[in-house]
Amino acid sequence: MSESKHKQNTIGLNSIAVHTGTIHDAFGGVNTPIQPSTAIEYLSGNGNIPYPRNFNIPNHEAVSKKIAALEGGESAIVLATGMSAIAAGILAIAKPGDHILMQNNIYGGTRAFVELLREKHNINVTLITSMTPDSLAQSVTNETVLVYLETPTNPLLEIIDIALITQWAKDNGILTMIDNTFASPVNQRPLELGCDIIMHSATKYMGGHSDLMAGALIGTAEYIEKCRKISAIYGMSLNAVDLSLLERSIKTIGVRVNQQNANALEIAEWLSKHPGIAKVHYPGLQSHPGHDIAKRQMSGFGGMMSFELAGNDMEYRDDFLQKLRMISVATSLGGVESTMTIPAQTSHYLITSEERALLGITDMLIRFSVGIEDAQDIIHDLERALQ
Ligand SMILES: Cc1ncc(COP(=O)(O)O)c(C=O)c1O
Repeated sequence: MSESKHKQNTIGLNSIAVHTGTIHDAFGGVNTPIQPSTAIEYLSGNGNIPYPRNFNIPNHEAVSKKIAALEGGESAIVLATGMSAIAAGILAIAKPGDHILMQNNIYGGTRAFVELLREKHNINVTLITSMTPDSLAQSVTNETVLVYLETPTNPLLEIIDIALITQWAKDNGILTMIDNTFASPVNQRPLELGCDIIMHSATKYMGGHSDLMAGALIGTAEYIEKCRKISAIYGMSLNAVDLSLLERSIKTIGVRVNQQNANALEIAEWLSKHPGIAKVHYPGLQSHPGHDIAKRQMSGFGGMMSFELAGNDMEYRDDFLQKLRMISVATSLGGVESTMTIPAQTSHYLITSEERALLGITDMLIRFSVGIEDAQDIIHDLERALQ
């Protein structure tokens, strides 16, 4: 086997997505072969015991190199889910007694993990409602080791100024970790903006076809090795078949996400003019409060948006969703197919309606993951359902 001759630092994102990391087989095939063996001869292995749970099989090497290169990082690890990436990524940094500054409006699973950090690991977490240097400065302690952020946010697509936050963290000797799932490396490259660590739910845009679960962490080789040790013990590895599926899927990430960017912008503009829609949350719209920051730190505005139906009639909302033909009302996001969810019923159903109201999540809010179908067909589906 020989590694593909293409190198990450001399080629563009689409070429990285297709070629970097690929391990050509002895037969001359252009794809990394699937190596599902769990019993692997080890006598000639220089003490490196090959075993899938240790993250040292060829399918892991291939896809982790590709992901590291896409984000411009030194190293990466691919895990079983986005949640395992969050858990391993944080536990590789924080020990009992440490303190974390974490954005308040983050993915619900990450919020749930905060409770575990507090109760089982004695790691103190302060949730920050407005991610500005001033509010971080008010909550920082001598024990603070990490600032954790997510932008654009779920489901209101708020934008956090990454460079501003990472500069503040650097000035205070604190690491930053960002959930880059919504943007994907096609639209946002946080390491270039000063972030230390990136995590992804690769279940979303990296997988892109709504048929696999995976997570990823990107950072220095030293940090990723710490993550690997923890993840091997907790058993957070991904099997060779899904690693191969992920490698295959990432090859088209640029093409998919660019089509989703274009579709989402056209649809957001159309929705914002429709009388049946009270509000559209999409950073690509000039009316979005984070538009200028998004323009600065993102190369595309992404395929995610949310919108509020006019009025307060939940029957009208449910009727609208039931009338959709091409768009599915389904969990997850980032797939080639357009999907919608009601955050009040899914990602935010565990919190009270009063708390949701405080966060700006109304019962009429719909989260929309725009797919790669033709924009006009998506608009027709919306138009008919809105009538
Ligand atoms: C922004 C974000 N981060 C992390 C996760 C967790 O990823 P997974 O479901 O792959 O564990 C999700 C899942 O929806 C997500 O949307």
